[in-house]
Order: sequence, then structure tokens, then C-alpha cells
Amino acid sequence: MRTLAAVGMQFGDEGKGKIVDFLAEKADIVARATGGNNAGHTVVVKDTTYKFHLLPSGIIHKDKLSICGNGMVIYPKQIIKEISLLEKKGMKITNKNLLISSAAHVITEEQVEKDKKTGEKVGTTGRGIGPCYMDKIERTGLRMNEFVKQDNEEAKKLRPFVDDTYVILNEAIEKGKKILVEGAQGTLLDIDHGTYPYVTSSNPTSGGVCTGLGIGPTKIDNVMGIIKAYITRVGRGPMPTEQGTDEQTLGEKKEDSLTEEDLKKANGGEEYFTGKILRKQGGEYGTTTGRARRTGWFDAVIANYAVRINGASNIALTKLDVLNNLDKIKICTHYEVDGKKTENFLLDLEKLEKAKPTYIEMPGWKEDISKITKFEGLPKNAKNYVKKIEELMKIPVSILSLGPKRDQTIVLNEKFLF
Ligand code: GDP
Ligand code: IMO
Ligand code: MG
Repeated sequence: MRTLAAVGMQFGDEGKGKIVDFLAEKADIVARATGGNNAGHTVVVKDTTYKFHLLPSGIIHKDKLSICGNGMVIYPKQIIKEISLLEKKGMKITNKNLLISSAAHVITEEQVEKDKKTGEKVGTTGRGIGPCYMDKIERTGLRMNEFVKQDNEEAKKLRPFVDDTYVILNEAIEKGKKILVEGAQGTLLDIDHGTYPYVTSSNPTSGGVCTGLGIGPTKIDNVMGIIKAYITRVGRGPMPTEQGTDEQTLGEKKEDSLTEEDLKKANGGEEYFTGKILRKQGGEYGTTTGRARRTGWFDAVIANYAVRINGASNIALTKLDVLNNLDKIKICTHYEVDGKKTENFLLDLEKLEKAKPTYIEMPGWKEDISKITKFEGLPKNAKNYVKKIEELMKIPVSILSLGPKRDQTIVLNEKFLF
């Protein structure tokens, strides 16, 4: 395994930061190809939590090179802030461990302002992502190479990091080095393949890896799909298996803790409370904006769509630990639209909004599984849940994640790792 692309298979926040950090140990280079500081990737190492928006999560591995690829959009203030946060923690960030593509686009204040005004319909992160990609496509954008020629503090600070990163990446591939690509966002947020217009403005799917880094498709050896054991979405747009809509928040607040009553209601079949259990047990609040994430059951229609669009050969299944305390766990196997059954994801939003998920029910478990270190040690029902997902997705689970920390990770299939 030389080049491994790890991409999000749902609506983002699948745990990419955690999985990439885990895989990065054996990589030489960690590169991000798309998106900007709309992303929020969390990495937990012992007692320290890092939240990255622009820097690849591999950056905390001191001896690796991190690359922000040409497909990314960079907000200078934010990347400078992330660099200085790491420097405050004692890390030295130089062009030995961080490079930014000269062709990456720069997010300007005007673009941020515009997004804040126009992004509401979609529920964007308000970071200027859409307007920046608009200007890129319109050929009026500002690229990193031009930005660093300016005479200002930000340009001066970033100048040493800017390079033609496609050269470094391709030379590394030619030398047999290990490249890990860190996906941002998720398949259903893809500008082409997502729930348009409720999407981001880039291609977070595996196709975007080639254009976003300047490496050819034949150089990608493995696409790993990162997927949660349930589903979440932040921002607007359809999510067929949602449990309780965001309009229906029942006054719920971030700081509220879960009560016995909530559990009873969830297990009594009250949808909203199932959603609340997943949100509270999963800590489902946005890394970037702090918004409550909408939550729902695992959707195999979406999962299989993401397998196809990305050509994923294996999956990292995350947050299985979040599903405890439930009597029954549902999995959506197909949709019904106008009385017809479909296992294929629907691109027509009107049809998708009408789609009724059809579920199978799996028995749950009522114990904390977050400290279990071997698959065999999991409760029978948790093992069966994982096996059911593999059966429905027809590709193996290579990594099972049972918590945010590095040691809460079980490797099930070494073959797909470095
Ligand atoms: P990303 O955008 O895909 O990198 O995901 P985020 O970092 O935005 O959100 C994932 C959240 O879940 C973070 O707070 C992670 O620390 C946490 N997390 C990752 N994997 C697991 C897991 O297996 N179990 C639990 N309980 N939390 C996890
Ligand atoms: P990571 O990498 C979850 C969502 C926004 C909004 C839509 C468009 O952490 O998984 P944008 O600001 O990109 O124009 O917003 O996409 N969105 C994300 N949701 N995780 C992300 O990134 C996201 N990046 C964008 O909430 O609905
Ligand atoms: Mg995130």
C-alpha cells in the first residue's frame, strides 16, 4: 500500500480526523486535497484535543510532511492561527513539515462576507467557501503563489510554506513513499454527487483527490471509506433516516445531559429521543460552528452509493460505541418512493424528500464498549451489527473505532492499511 485516500462517506464529521491520525503513524506524507476551514477535524491524543480546520491532521506527527493541496481554499488568518497554536504547544512548523500548494486558492474577507449573507439557505459554515470556489471557477480568484507576493504580515508568514506541491507528491510516489490523503466533508456534500444545492462547493469524493493534489488516478492504491455507525448532518438538506427534525428541537440545549426519561422515550419508539440519544452520546455538535448535528439511523442506501462514487474497497466504521443503551438499532436497507422500492440513492431532491426509509431492526446492547480492544470481546449484538453493515455494503470493515482516542481503535483487516 503506497497511496491511501481516506474519504467521508456520509455528510461529513465521520471521524476522518481520528482515523487519519491513526493511519498517519505509518505514512510519510499526509495531504488534504479539497475544502477549506469549513472542515473541522478532531484528533485526541492522550489528554490533548486538537481541532484542525485547514492543517492536515497528520501535522501532529512531527516527522511527517503535511500538504495542503491545490484543490483546497485557504483562509490565511486561520492557517496562521493553527500554526501558532501548534507552536505554542512546542511544535516547530517549518517547510520541512508543512507545504501549501502554490495553486491553492485564497479566501478573502469579501468572500467570507458574501457567504455570511448568501449561505443561509444551504446553512453553510459561513467561511467563504462557496464564494471562493465561485471566483476560482470564474477565473478571478487569488492563488497562494500570488498572495505571498504581497507585502503584508500574512503573506510574509506564509511565504516559506508555498511550493508546487504536485512535484513533491509525485516524486514521493515515484520513490515508493507512503501518501495518506485526508478527505474533508463527505460524499453527500459533494457538489456533483451530493444533495445539491445542499452541498459544499468542492468534490470531497475520491475523484477530487486527483484534481485536488495533482496525482493521477492510477497512483491511488486504496480508497478507504470512513463512515459512522449511524448518520449525522449539520446544515440544511434531506437526510432520509433523520430521527426528529431540526425544527423540532424541543428546546434542547448543548449543555443538557441525557436523562433516564430520554432513554425510556427513545426505547419506547419516540423518534426525536432516538435522535437525542445519538446526539448526546455521540457529542454531535459541530467542530467548526458548534451547531447541533442532526442525527439518524445508518442508511445503507447512502453507504452503498458512497462505495460506488468513491470506489471504496473497505471501510473504517466509527462511533460504534455511541449506539449503546438502545433496545433496538435500525438500519435502513432501501427507500420507498411513490410505492416503488429502490436501493439506489436518488439525485432528484423532490423524490429524495419523499423517500420513505425501510428498516431492519437489530437488537442493541447496554454496555460501554469503548474500552474493548478485540473484536471477539464485543457483545454478540455489537458484532452482529458490524457484520450486518459489512453484508449490506459488500466490502469489509478494516478499522473499527470505539472512541475518539488512538487506542480505541481495532484493526480488523491489515491488508487495507499501510
Ligand atoms: P471529521 O470532520 O470527520 O474529522 O469528524 P469530527 O472531528 O468533526 O467529528 C467526529 C467527532 O467524534 C470528534 O469529536 C471525534 O473526537 C469523535 N470520534 C471519532 N471517532 C469516534 C469514535 O469511534 N467514538 C466516539 N465516541 N467518538 C469518536
Ligand atoms: P468535515 O471535514 C459537516 C456543510 C455545511 C453546509 C454545507 C455547505 O468536518 O467533515 P460550506 O461552508 O461548505 O459552503 O457549507 O456543507 N459542511 C460540513 N458539514 N462537516 C464538514 O466538514 C462540513 N463542511 C461543510 O454545514 O450544510
Ligand atoms: Mg468535522
